Amino acid sequence: MLLTILILSCTKKTNNKVKTQQYAIDYHSYAQPNKAVATHLNLKLDVHFDTKIIDGVASYLITTQNNASAIVFDTKNLEILKVEANKKPTKFQLEKTDDILGRALKIELPKNAKTVTIYYKTTAKTEALQFLNPQQTADKKHPFLLTQGQAILTRTWIPIQDSPQIRITYNATVKVPNELMAVMSAKNPKQKSKDGVYHFEMKQPISPYLIALAVGDLAYKKISDRTGVYAEKTVIDKAHYEFADMEKMVTAAENLYGKYAWQQFDVVVLPPSFPFGGMENPRLTFATPTVIAGDRSLTSLIAHELAHSWSGNLVTNATWDDFWLNEGFTVYFEMRIMEALYGKDHANMLAAIGRQDLEEELQGMKNTPNDTKLKLNLKGRNPDDGMNSIAYDKGYLFLRTLENTVGRSKMDVFLKTYFNEHAFSTMTTERFIDYLNKNLLDKNDITFNVNEWIYKPGIPKNAITVKSTKFKDVENSINQWKNGKITAKEICNQDWNIQQKIHFIRNIPKEISKVKMNALDTHCSFTNSTNSYITMVWFEQAINHDYHANNVDSKIEDFLMHVGRRWYVSTIYSALKNNGEIKKAFAIYKKARPNYHSVTRNTIDEMLAYK
Ligand code: BES
Ligand code: ZN
Repeated sequence: MLLTILILSCTKKTNNKVKTQQYAIDYHSYAQPNKAVATHLNLKLDVHFDTKIIDGVASYLITTQNNASAIVFDTKNLEILKVEANKKPTKFQLEKTDDILGRALKIELPKNAKTVTIYYKTTAKTEALQFLNPQQTADKKHPFLLTQGQAILTRTWIPIQDSPQIRITYNATVKVPNELMAVMSAKNPKQKSKDGVYHFEMKQPISPYLIALAVGDLAYKKISDRTGVYAEKTVIDKAHYEFADMEKMVTAAENLYGKYAWQQFDVVVLPPSFPFGGMENPRLTFATPTVIAGDRSLTSLIAHELAHSWSGNLVTNATWDDFWLNEGFTVYFEMRIMEALYGKDHANMLAAIGRQDLEEELQGMKNTPNDTKLKLNLKGRNPDDGMNSIAYDKGYLFLRTLENTVGRSKMDVFLKTYFNEHAFSTMTTERFIDYLNKNLLDKNDITFNVNEWIYKPGIPKNAITVKSTKFKDVENSINQWKNGKITAKEICNQDWNIQQKIHFIRNIPKEISKVKMNALDTHCSFTNSTNSYITMVWFEQAINHDYHANNVDSKIEDFLMHVGRRWYVSTIYSALKNNGEIKKAFAIYKKARPNYHSVTRNTIDEMLAYK
């Protein structure tokens, strides 16, 4: 592929170190940062819940090269009202609309332009925003607003140079209804203000996809001096209990790869329609309430989002083709944090679950082998197309296999140095490979099939197999059960942890009869489990096995009506579709669709060919 890297003479001050910024070609952004780039954003927002519109003013400090006569921003479905440069009205033009990318906003610049101010409004089509009515919240009393920026949705609520390789600092003033509280990926309030006005500051330069806002009837409860949770009243204590190990996670992460660079690490628990498990917005991870299981069994998600504070937020994928640099490293780091807190056995179970996810993903991508490469080519496509298990689990497997080859101590020195040397900058796959060769492989005279891992489809032969003794137990039980040597009751009486149960359910053999499924459900109560991960995989198996007892069908429908987490709902719709139940999938989806964020809607629309 022809990837021209433009070396730019522009310099940026970060952490008192002056760095040379290199911009790769990013075909998912219209911005031309090599000509004119924004370095700081001052945002003023007025959030209107009645009309579901945000009124905004985005003022930027900009740096231009060679007296650039224009600066280009990304927008999508925004109404641009007026634009100023150096505080005086200036001409601007909205270019033609692309379905995926939106429209370039080209602004004319006078000589020596230092600032640009854009007055705008969001519209009903704004994809990043999800306005929720009180019924969709935990407390059911007040509306809620959440945003999701990754991958290219920030441009749908802020006119911005929306490429991950561009970093900006930001300030914001946000006005919301008096009874609500606003929080952002920035320094946050811990209490409600009297007038509904909130001020935010993000001093470290971050990528545009990490700008985020949530507005609701929120409260804060601290866990340590630098960690805590935001949630609605009926959720806050549960969240506080569930995430009690957050400080230990930050400490463990720091011990591995260096100081936490963002001062504060908080989590806001959102309503269940949030389309992801978690989103690593700096200083304030956004999380689904479906991780609150009551027993802290799903908190690896917090370790994952925390890990992004290094891999992703500190060292950022330059383009969405390099997405695996964000997620693969983060899964590796997540496993290391989990190992540090809960031991090797536990981490290996999580890794084994990831390996099965990867095998299933590869199976589903048999006809599109190019999409199973780590380095992607998403030109002309929605970057969301590349956001699947490959980046996560193949990326992880690559790093874990590398660790196995070079040894842990060398791996750790390498990673710590990598994060430290590239803090607050972006990384392309090519530069990473260079760095890896120089600083780990050549130096230690080690050969490793790096290019095969990164540029070839599928899993290379030298991939290690993660062994989990706890899962071996489960697999033995499955065999005995299948062969009639043990009963469902005996299965359910085993003292398995949540991951073992998940592994068990996911590996229920195809040939298991409805009668046996029923016996299992009677003794294990999977249909009525309060653990969302358990019910999700169980619902999938119920559908695969044509199992309808115990009211499971209405439980599935109820789940799909309330939960909008894309990975969960797409698993269930896909099971319906693949088992000849497309009509049923359609009927439920028709009702549930208005409850989903656009990210989830887009995925399910496509899966079910819904129009
Ligand atoms: N950054 C991702 C979420 C994301 C990916 C948003 C792609 C938009 C596009 C986040 O860190 C993530 O990976 N979340 C996972 C949880 C994790 C434990 C694997 C999720 O949402 O399930
Ligand atoms: Zn992630």
